[in-house]
Amino acid sequence: MNINRLRRFIGDMTSLVGGAWQDKDEKAVLEVGQKLLGELVSHDDWLPESMAKSPPHGYAQNLLWCDPFERFSVVSFVWSPGAQTPVHDHQMWGLVGMLRGAETSQSFVRDPATGAMTAGEPKQMQLGEVEVLVPATGDIHRVTNVLKDKPSISIHVYGGNIGAVRRHTFDPATGTPSLFVSGYTNQMVPNLWDRSAETRAAS
Ligand SMILES: [Fe+2]
Repeated sequence: MNINRLRRFIGDMTSLVGGAWQDKDEKAVLEVGQKLLGELVSHDDWLPESMAKSPPHGYAQNLLWCDPFERFSVVSFVWSPGAQTPVHDHQMWGLVGMLRGAETSQSFVRDPATGAMTAGEPKQMQLGEVEVLVPATGDIHRVTNVLKDKPSISIHVYGGNIGAVRRHTFDPATGTPSLFVSGYTNQMVPNLWDRSAETRAAS
């Protein structure tokens, strides 16, 4: 397992969100972040097994890393066969990279006055592809594991501590919102810092 890839990605993301310009230029953060995540998910040799375990039903949302200042978080989403989220929003930017299998993101536009929901085109994510979600331009969606007989895994990066913020699910028929806080499935984050094998090999 090559967890170095994840450690390097987190280092690069930390530099990116720490740039003096980042508050003013979210677009630039997302452009670079999309490339970095695309590179990370183009390899499938780094995700610890415990973070890739499919639950029997639904999906697991495993925290891989949260920035100490909560400027971004990195999560592995493990979908059991055919699993589907409710329609939901995020309240912050998001990047979704497909690591294993395939998923569909069905977008919705919600009329703020009436709550009426209009479904957009469903978009199937291919391996290595990265989707960008921005609240200002519409980030309401419902995600489904396309595979009916196998788990799928996507790696998500969000512009905050995604598991600990108030956000919404929506009834797709009426647009009625419900508050929710997603939390995380795991209690322990992966150890990125045991580099003893490298040190021993070099000595
Ligand atoms: Fe989402």
